[in-house]
Amino acid sequence: MTLVNRQWLINGRPNGRSLIDGDFKLVESPARDPEEGEVLVKTLYLAFDPAQKGQMENIGGYTAPTEIGEVMRGSGLGEVVASNAPGFAPGDKVTGALRWQDYATLPARELLKVADDDLLTANLGALGTTGLTAFFGLQKIGKPFPGDTVVVTGGAGATGSVVGQIAKIGGCRVVGVAGGPAKCAWLIDELGFDAAIDYKAGDIRDQARAAAPDGIDVLWDNVGGPAFNTLLAQLAMHARVVVCGGISRYELGKMPAGPENYFNLIFKRASMEGFILSDYQNEFPWARERLAWWIRAGALRYKEDVQHGLENAPRTLRRLFQGENFGKQLLKL
Ligand SMILES: NC(=O)c1ccc[n+]([C@@H]2O[C@H](COP(=O)([O-])OP(=O)(O)OC[C@H]3O[C@@H](n4cnc5c(N)ncnc54)[C@H](OP(=O)(O)O)[C@@H]3O)[C@@H](O)[C@H]2O)c1
Repeated sequence: MTLVNRQWLINGRPNGRSLIDGDFKLVESPARDPEEGEVLVKTLYLAFDPAQKGQMENIGGYTAPTEIGEVMRGSGLGEVVASNAPGFAPGDKVTGALRWQDYATLPARELLKVADDDLLTANLGALGTTGLTAFFGLQKIGKPFPGDTVVVTGGAGATGSVVGQIAKIGGCRVVGVAGGPAKCAWLIDELGFDAAIDYKAGDIRDQARAAAPDGIDVLWDNVGGPAFNTLLAQLAMHARVVVCGGISRYELGKMPAGPENYFNLIFKRASMEGFILSDYQNEFPWARERLAWWIRAGALRYKEDVQHGLENAPRTLRRLFQGENFGKQLLKL
């Protein structure tokens, strides 16, 4: 039986502007049978990350350039439908770079088999790249010490909310920066953050001074732009600045000018370092175990924002840039 495979292709480059419908094109083709060493996977969920827009723009970075007409890249969770590889059988649940399509035929080595349990979808969020990004960015670069003040921008986002909670587990005082009262209240009431800064409620300088009166020991930035610049002026001595992402620049179409307050790194003997999660790939297994343990112990909580239908993939990606997602942005097929 031939399986019909709906696929979203890249059809435009959203440089210097928001994503539009015309940036994507929906086509149908037959799903390809798996050759030796390959597995045919039916997509159950797709996961969304702001970096996907950057990949469409091709303005440099760390992934191979995208082509107009290629199937839109993205990670997902799926079920094995047919296997031509040892270790994979129909019914197995897997994660991998499934792309925006109903069916993916991939080499088995590019797939990770995951347990079909109550944490199944967490493999795309708190137990997947989101949680691992938070884990390794803190462990390798932020290096928080008990008692440190940790401030995280994009604090109510998928990555930021895990960053803050791991820092809490490590005995830190945690401040999240987020857009709007609902997200700020969630950080304090549900996740146990010590304070929240609503960057949409006006200048954040005074809010930051009140929330972190002794300065910021670890500044985790997911956002860039004016908020990041303002927070750089509030660093404590020997602070560590973790540069994880810069969603506020993703619609500029170019790299932004450097932050005016970078000189504070000198005054405060601080360091600033970026990272890419894939650098720590060899260490993922033990980090996943630790994240799962925290979740099961109730120390790490996560929220998922689930949209529905492959036809809604483009507008689901757009939600990230309007702050509409509340939790890890997923799409259920
Ligand atoms: N370095 C790495 O290896 C790595 C790996 C994974 C992710 N990342 C980065 O981590 C960051 C977070 O990704 P995520 O997947 O966890 O997404 P997310 O934080 O769940 O979603 C994005 C959030 O960013 C905020 N936002 C959107 N536009 C903004 C703007 N102009 N200014 C300030 N905030 C804005 C919105 O929250 P509000 O409602 O609060 O505004 C939105 O909900 C991204 O920059 C991503 O690229 C890096």
